[in-house]
Amino acid sequence: MNAKTLSVLVTGGAGYIGSHTTRQLVAAGHQVTVVDNLYSGHRWAVSPEADFHEYDAGDRVAMRALMRSRHFDAVIHFAGHIVVPESVSDPGKYYRNNVLGSLNLIECCEEAGVGLFVFSSSAAVYGNPATIPVHEETPTNPINPYGRTKLITEWTLKDFAERTGSNLPLRYVALRYFNVAGASLDGALGQATPEATHLIKVACEAACGKRDSVSIFGTDYDTEDGTCIRDYIHVEDLAAAHLGALDYLATGGNSAVLNCGYGHGYSVREVLDMVRKVSGNDFSIRETGRRDGDPVCLISDNRSIRKLLTWAPQHNDLELICSTAFQWERAKQGPKSRKG
Ligand code: UFG
Repeated sequence: MNAKTLSVLVTGGAGYIGSHTTRQLVAAGHQVTVVDNLYSGHRWAVSPEADFHEYDAGDRVAMRALMRSRHFDAVIHFAGHIVVPESVSDPGKYYRNNVLGSLNLIECCEEAGVGLFVFSSSAAVYGNPATIPVHEETPTNPINPYGRTKLITEWTLKDFAERTGSNLPLRYVALRYFNVAGASLDGALGQATPEATHLIKVACEAACGKRDSVSIFGTDYDTEDGTCIRDYIHVEDLAAAHLGALDYLATGGNSAVLNCGYGHGYSVREVLDMVRKVSGNDFSIRETGRRDGDPVCLISDNRSIRKLLTWAPQHNDLELICSTAFQWERAKQGPKSRKG
């Protein structure tokens, strides 16, 4: 698949999406270095073939030293905080880590001459889009701090890529993730984020008896069943999109911003029904008020990514997403079953 072996620095490679991507990069023959501060990632999740450094990706001194110690062809930047409601209650944490940390990293790349950059952006940059499905040209209007930090980093990349007088212009792909979920098909990797808040993860914990109930945050939205709609994408497909983006850049592709989703959505109630079905377990559901910062409906128009990258979804199936997530959750004996 790859034109050549690349030396790739993966920030956040011990986290959920980062660890799946690292594994695919290793399998594709790339040389992978992971940097992760283990804030929410786990050392066991990093492929043994990858070189590992426990640094903060925004630590300019550490990153500069690492980039001086060896050459990297590309950076894939996952490291960042990702919880929408937390970003509303603690915006400083998000601006510091997601905006300042990314700026530090981008400047280190520029100094070291690392010219290819793949960035974990988010559908949260759209806010409540005027049209569904949402296309990359749809105006961005984030409605929470998390989405704003992702958009600011996209702008930072654009400005650095277009800056005049640079010896080695940066080229980047920003992947705007929709709602990632599920676990690897072989059960080796999955979401192990402590105190997770994401719907499918939370529902699987409830189905395994690890929590008493699941709350539905808002049942009075303007949707068919009154709950929010999201475009859920399997983590292995999302990881594969990063390899596609890397290949695209390494073979001369121009900078691009691409939606990463399947192009159809499910309501919160539909997701909870599916988790009940695949688990065979009932769990109680509490209907509560709306959660701050939640858009009503996010569904991707994914024509651009399918056109530009050699990427096509392989696991476009809510049942598979929920069943792999549930099996992963069940296989974990508890929060302490794997050492982080
Ligand atoms: N939800 C519940 N109960 C829960 C958890 C979630 O009803 O216990 C609802 C939320 O209110 C929302 C939907 O389920 O309507 C999905 O919420 P998640 O927390 O699973 O995910 P978000 O949509 O808030 O955010 C995720 C990622 C972001 C990304 C976004 C893009 O965390 O990084 O998807 O759509 F930007």
